Amino acid sequence: MGNSARLPAAGEEVKLGEDEFIVSKTDIKGRIRYVNRAFMRVSGYAEPEVMGKPHNIIRHPDMPRGIFRLLWKTILTGEECFACVKNRTKSGGYYWVMANVTADRDLEGNIKGFFSVRRRVPDALIAYFEDLYGRMRAAEARAGGSAAPDAGLRVLEQEIRERGFDSYETFVLGIQA
Ligand SMILES: Cc1cc2nc3c(=O)[nH]c(=O)nc-3n(C[C@H](O)[C@H](O)[C@H](O)COP(=O)(O)O)c2cc1C
Repeated sequence: MGNSARLPAAGEEVKLGEDEFIVSKTDIKGRIRYVNRAFMRVSGYAEPEVMGKPHNIIRHPDMPRGIFRLLWKTILTGEECFACVKNRTKSGGYYWVMANVTADRDLEGNIKGFFSVRRRVPDALIAYFEDLYGRMRAAEARAGGSAAPDAGLRVLEQEIRERGFDSYETFVLGIQA
């Protein structure tokens, strides 16, 4: 359609529709093998621009490293992972998603890649996650280097306990603003 007037300016939020699902599929290393139309609409990337690229192509700098440490640790064991993620669009905007990442297996049951299906995050929760992830990033910056992701995860674990949840999964699915 090429309507550049509808592209978000840098730093602007793109909202997912109520019934819109963003889907992508990767190989075992997290390189993109499939994206759906909603992925293209929201991220601003056309299919050939992302095909074969590492999924961190849409990583937003506001995301703490600890969340991705937890994500990979969970999915490589074959378990599904739910995560609340802020992503970056091609033009420098952003969008929040609640992601469900699951293993894609071959006929023998070996993991050959992963699927992610994402829906919108309720508006009321976005400010909460901005704040929580900001506190995680601050702890990661203080710890520095390879100690950073675990320092972020300690902030997350404390938050989960204080809010009365027993895991990141029950927390992201159950937290109310
Ligand atoms: C199926 C799947 C979907 C993913 N989706 C995203 C995503 O939407 N945004 C994102 O930043 N990382 C996503 N990741 C995680 C990235 O692979 C990567 O770990 C993350 O962007 C952090 O980048 P880094 O490891 O280079 O620091 C996904 C991984 C998999 C396996």
